[in-house]
Amino acid sequence: MVSRRELFTQCRELIAQRDEETAEFDTGCIFQDLLGERNPMFAPMLPVPDDKAQEILSLAQRRSEGYPLQYLLGQWEFWGCNFKVGEGVLIPRPDTETLVEQVIDICRREKMTAPKIADLCSGSGCIAVALKKELPAAEVYAVELSDKALTYLRQNAQLNGCDIRIIQGDVLNEDSAREIRGLDILVSNPPYLTSQDMSELMTEVRHEPAEALFGGDDGLDFYRALTELWKPSLREGGFIAYEFGMGQHGDVKRILEDNGFTDVELRRDGGGIIRTAAAVKKDR
Ligand SMILES: C[S@@+](CC[C@H](N)C(=O)[O-])C[C@H]1O[C@@H](n2cnc3c(N)ncnc32)[C@H](O)[C@@H]1O
Repeated sequence: MVSRRELFTQCRELIAQRDEETAEFDTGCIFQDLLGERNPMFAPMLPVPDDKAQEILSLAQRRSEGYPLQYLLGQWEFWGCNFKVGEGVLIPRPDTETLVEQVIDICRREKMTAPKIADLCSGSGCIAVALKKELPAAEVYAVELSDKALTYLRQNAQLNGCDIRIIQGDVLNEDSAREIRGLDILVSNPPYLTSQDMSELMTEVRHEPAEALFGGDDGLDFYRALTELWKPSLREGGFIAYEFGMGQHGDVKRILEDNGFTDVELRRDGGGIIRTAAAVKKDR
């Protein structure tokens, strides 16, 4: 039998052939997951049973071929909560925590203790769940179209003990927008990659669903449609909050203002990129 240390080195070297920077971290995650221990390398000389070593090596092999670590593990952390993930659902990104923070800040500032919130294009449900965790009295709706994503969304709401109203629907369809009225907050991280972006995706991202990524030729289709279609669902003085890609802030701000939203507040993510915008619905 191989020792943990020997196996760790073998896996790290395998993954490093693809990505030197993440090899140590990825190997650590695979070890934690498959050995079911928080710090498996505290006992480096322990032998690893042959079948377990094979399992670990095969995950390292898949990782070295560009398969996302999060899908290999079947779960990922967002906002301190655990989310089940797998093929067919977008992996929650740390950047999206900026959007959650912005919505929470608005609710606190505006003294909304029990806001009515809709998370459009909800995917894994990371935004809806994080908001419900922080604002337990909120009435939170999550709208998603994809069957596969919905399976994860339902699982994640339950896993995190969140009573969220999950709706399967097309957010680009007026009937879906009519279903929910009197919202205080509309939040969304919609697909926003451009045609050009889609042709240059990293191998890892190619494993994620295209319908979660592609936002039309210029990446802005969802911002244009959602802002117009869902505006009547927001109460006067209600807020809309979006996440978008690097460099899209000017266009998203303009779309919001063209639709009569005011006081656009842009926010940077942890990497310094302008990542989110929130604005108020006011009568012109
Ligand atoms: C960028 S992902 C965001 C997922 C999640 N909110 C997050 O932040 O990780 C966009 C999501 O929109 C969903 N989607 C795409 N088109 C949609 C539509 N027309 N109606 C509803 N959901 C849609 C995709 O299935 C995907 O889950």
